[in-house]
Amino acid sequence: MQDFDVVILGAGAAGLMCAMAAGARGRRVLLLDHAAQAGSKILISGGGRCNFTNTDTAPDRFLSDNPHFAKSALKRYTARDFVALVEKHRIPFHEKTLGQLFCDGSARAVVAMLLAECDAAGVDLRLNHRITEVSRADRFRVDTDRGGFSATSLVLATGGLSIPKMGATGFSLDLARRFGLPVTATRPALVPLTFSGEELELMQPLSGVSLEVVARCGRQAFREAMLFTHRGLSGPAVLQVSSLWRPGESLTLDLLPGTDAAAFLLERKCSRPRAELRTVLGEVLPGRLAQALGAGAAQEMGNLPDKALRAVAEGLGRRRVTPSGTEGYAKAEVMGGGVDTAALSSRTLEAAAVPGLYVVGEAVDVTGWLGGYNFQWAWSSGWCAGQVA
Ligand code: FDA
Repeated sequence: MQDFDVVILGAGAAGLMCAMAAGARGRRVLLLDHAAQAGSKILISGGGRCNFTNTDTAPDRFLSDNPHFAKSALKRYTARDFVALVEKHRIPFHEKTLGQLFCDGSARAVVAMLLAECDAAGVDLRLNHRITEVSRADRFRVDTDRGGFSATSLVLATGGLSIPKMGATGFSLDLARRFGLPVTATRPALVPLTFSGEELELMQPLSGVSLEVVARCGRQAFREAMLFTHRGLSGPAVLQVSSLWRPGESLTLDLLPGTDAAAFLLERKCSRPRAELRTVLGEVLPGRLAQALGAGAAQEMGNLPDKALRAVAEGLGRRRVTPSGTEGYAKAEVMGGGVDTAALSSRTLEAAAVPGLYVVGEAVDVTGWLGGYNFQWAWSSGWCAGQVA
């Protein structure tokens, strides 16, 4: 049995940040992971360039049963703090769009940075350790297939359920339940949506077509790109609304954001009366989509009644679609839901009922929008726990 001050389970984004922060305070930190490498989701994130934070980080960019919970941690360790760390390590980066900061080069630089900070803080990182048992008497005790460890603080940082083939598990959720902490309903989030029936028949032949839309679910709307897939819809706008969508609900799509579709079509009826509808739609939509939407009206614009054009406009500006489901955890960027925030301190992420137990990162019921917000939550929550664990 080896003794530490802090044992952190999971060497992902939140675990690495927590380890370097606790280590920097002089705590003896053990960081354990069952995988062969640390930070594997960081490595594949952002198409290999890691969208590591967002300059527009604010609490309203996060979903949770308690929308106020993330405020404290996000304020204590900000996007600017993480950017300062990236700059200290001279990692070149750029803003891609909408405040999203990406590495110019490989995401490997971010993992190397976190590992260097952990190393400097004396963190004992052990990979390829299968955790077999966790218990608590006067100290926490963690047994693995390669020996046992004890500590006064235990941090659950094993992430969520998305991408099980990369080793994602519900380990933190199960362990939290065993310690008596409530866990909210979990679901795939930031995930492509699937369709069936007539809607899928329209979408399938359009697979690969992308365009800018406004996608709406309830009161929240996102103006970003949407992509047709062979199973339905994806792309940033759809991933964003997928986190809000619940089975049975409809979404509204504006396929011509910023354009009054009815005014446009009625004007073209006058200015291009001999053109077919699909040709006119091709002025403002990708060709294949224009063909598909105009296919039913192979008449010249001048012969189409205003009422028919208004109906087409309605289908462009306020198109209601009803997903049949999602592509599930295999394709979800994150898990929605997690350890109930009601059981945790928003300042330290410590469980109120189990002193010394902390839950950080994606395992907590805090889910960011697409765009670097989930990593920022991992950094902020990991750092806050690292100040006290
Ligand atoms: P994370 O998943 O990073 O780490 C968990 C660690 O625990 C892993 O190292 C894992 O091996 C380990 N573990 C799991 N079960 C265990 C067990 N039973 N025993 C021991 N160890 C165990 N976010 C963002 O902000 N910008 C982006 O660009 C992207 N891009 C992106 C792309 C893709 C394809 C995915 C799947 C996800 C993203 N994300 C993202 C989301 C982001 O990766 C995610 O929110 C954070 O990695 C969560 O950090 P955590 O540390 O909580 O979990």
